[in-house]
Amino acid sequence: MTDIMIAAPEIGNEEKSQVEDVLDSGMIADGPEVRRFEEEFADFCGTDDAVATSNGTTALHTALEALGIGEGDLVLTSPFSFVASANAVRLAGAKPVFADVDPETFNLDPAAVEEIVRERDVDAILAVHLYGLPADLGSLRDIADDYDLMLIEDAAQAHGAEYRGQKVGSFGDAACFSFYPTKNMTTGEGGIITTDRDDVARKAESFANHGRTPEGGYEHVRLGHNYRMTSIAAAIGRVQLEKLPEYVRARRANASLLDRALRGAEIIAPTEPEGTQHVYHQYTIRANDRDGLADFLEDRGVGTGVYYPTPIHELSAYDHVTCDAPVAERVSDEVLSLPVHPGLSTADVETITEALFEYEARR
Ligand SMILES: Cc1ncc(COP(=O)(O)O)c(C=O)c1O
Repeated sequence: MTDIMIAAPEIGNEEKSQVEDVLDSGMIADGPEVRRFEEEFADFCGTDDAVATSNGTTALHTALEALGIGEGDLVLTSPFSFVASANAVRLAGAKPVFADVDPETFNLDPAAVEEIVRERDVDAILAVHLYGLPADLGSLRDIADDYDLMLIEDAAQAHGAEYRGQKVGSFGDAACFSFYPTKNMTTGEGGIITTDRDDVARKAESFANHGRTPEGGYEHVRLGHNYRMTSIAAAIGRVQLEKLPEYVRARRANASLLDRALRGAEIIAPTEPEGTQHVYHQYTIRANDRDGLADFLEDRGVGTGVYYPTPIHELSAYDHVTCDAPVAERVSDEVLSLPVHPGLSTADVETITEALFEYEARR
């Protein structure tokens, strides 16, 4: 039996009471509550604008459309991510191109990125901050500037993460977050785009609302979707955003206890490169016998997860794509995520670290 779950969303009385207020107001779909959440999230990230959507995938799709990415365009992204990163590119009508990842950070390897953009007519880089660790934004920004590419952040897993003291979500032409229940903060289902570009924010707002004008009503100036966030979701999100700094602190504290337990171990602990603040959406280790370790931990009541067992280019939905990403292929056989969420008790963390010590001692 698994006693310690890999994820445990925390919804408290504060969220319930805010939701009740929204329900009582009668404004349960889009409305002022969503505008307030957008303002507060933009403030948190340090961007001029934010546009809330129904989930992280629709945020990505909307951002790409708002940036004018579509048919005939190539978007370079990571093959070692949740499939939504690449699916959004295809939903926008463009083609994903994959560059390999760095085995230590699991994020795009700038050298591999540059090799591809030198040879192919890439239009944008979609950098994923996997597991809550910012991608190498300095190098990717330089490449984007040198080759005149747009830079988009997939920050679905990285709320509150920092690169050189600046919050992710504020680096690219646009960035996208997910508020799925297992994420570092949730709205049930939900997503948001952050940007400093007024043109992108206005187009995103319109695209997510059937191509309407800002005045609303029945004037539709472009093709669009209903990708709107509900006020119920926004009410949860506003409370969760207030709690986010404490969630991040708790995740980082748990991660540092796990780091300590893995000092000198054969299992490879996650890294936090200088100048980054990891928010440990996942605490992901690498182990040769990944599946053996997962079974060993399961027997001791510790749940684990594999994110992701198959790189995107090897999924059957991506049969048509060829790419050279040996690192992504190798790490997908080695990665294992351990519980690190804020709901862990001191006793839970002890159970995990003791199980890791025991596993290492038997080798
Ligand atoms: C890296 C990444 N991108 C995009 C998404 C899509 O977000 P959502 O599930 O809210 O559509 C996720 C969610 O799991 C994700 O992890």
